[in-house]
Amino acid sequence: MKKILALAMAVVMLLCVVSCGSKQSNVKVYTEYELTAEKYAFAIAKENTALMTAANELLAELKANGELDKIINSFFDGTATFEYENPIPSAPTGADKANYLVVATNAYFPPFEYYNGSKLTGVDMKIASLLAEKLGKTLYINDMEFDSVITSVKNGESDIGMAGMTVNEERKKTIDFTTEYYESAQVLIVREDDKVFAECKSADDIIAKLGEQDKEFKVGTQNGTTGFMFSNGDEGFGYDGFKNLTTSGYTTGALAVLDLANGKVDAVIIDKQPAIMIAKSTNK
Ligand code: ARG
Repeated sequence: MKKILALAMAVVMLLCVVSCGSKQSNVKVYTEYELTAEKYAFAIAKENTALMTAANELLAELKANGELDKIINSFFDGTATFEYENPIPSAPTGADKANYLVVATNAYFPPFEYYNGSKLTGVDMKIASLLAEKLGKTLYINDMEFDSVITSVKNGESDIGMAGMTVNEERKKTIDFTTEYYESAQVLIVREDDKVFAECKSADDIIAKLGEQDKEFKVGTQNGTTGFMFSNGDEGFGYDGFKNLTTSGYTTGALAVLDLANGKVDAVIIDKQPAIMIAKSTNK
C-alpha cells in the first residue's frame, strides 16, 4: 500500500514538474522608469585609510584615462573577457592575510559580479584585480550573502566590499565609502502579460500603482539591498516603503525573478543593469 502511495506521489510530482515548468512566463523590465537615484562605491573599514587612499587613487586613474568606462561598457555589451579563480580554497587567515586583498561581494549581481561556470567575473571583479595588482597583493574574492558584506568589512574578515553597493548615510555610519564609480536606479520587473502596470507612463505612475496594491500583491527583492528597503520601508535608511503590499526577501535577485516568472510574486524591484541581465537569462 505504502509503495503504491509513494508511486502515486512520484507521478503527481513528475506531472507538476512538467506542467509547472511550462507555466514559466517571460518577464519584462521597466528600464526607463527609474524609481530611485543611486550611486555605487566600494566599502572600506573606517580605520583603513591606506586602502582608502589606494582605492581612490585607482578610481581617479581609471576615470582620467577612460578605462573605467571601457570596463563598464565591456561587461554591459558582453565583450569583456576577464575571469578570476581564487588561488586558495577558503579566505586567508592569520599572518597569510597580509599577502591578500580580500574582497567581500555577493556574486549573483551581473554585470557587476557573477559566475562564469566556476570563475568570477564582472565590473567590480575586474576593478578588484586592478586594485590587488596596484597593492602588490593576491586577490581573494570572498563570496557571501549581500547583507553580510558590510559586517565582513567592518570586522576585518574582508578588506573591501565591492558589490554594486549603493552609497547611503546609514551605511556610512558603519563603514567608509570610496569615491563613486557608477550611477544606478531601482527598476520594476513584471511578467510580460502583466496588466497592473501596463498603463504606466513614468516612475511616478509606477509608484502610484504600487501604492494602490494590497497585501496579496507580492514584491520580490534581494535581502539587505536598497530594493528591499524601497519596497518594504526602512526608517533608518529613510525609506517610507509600501506598507500596503507584501515585500519578500530573497538571497539573490535571480531567485526573486524566477519566482516572478513562476507566478509566486507579482513584481521584482532591483538595480537597473542587473534587472536587464537577469531578465534576459530568465527569458532564455
Ligand atoms: N545597489 C544595491 C544596494 O546597495 C544592491 C546591491 C546588490 N549587490 C550584490 N552584489 N548582490 O543595496
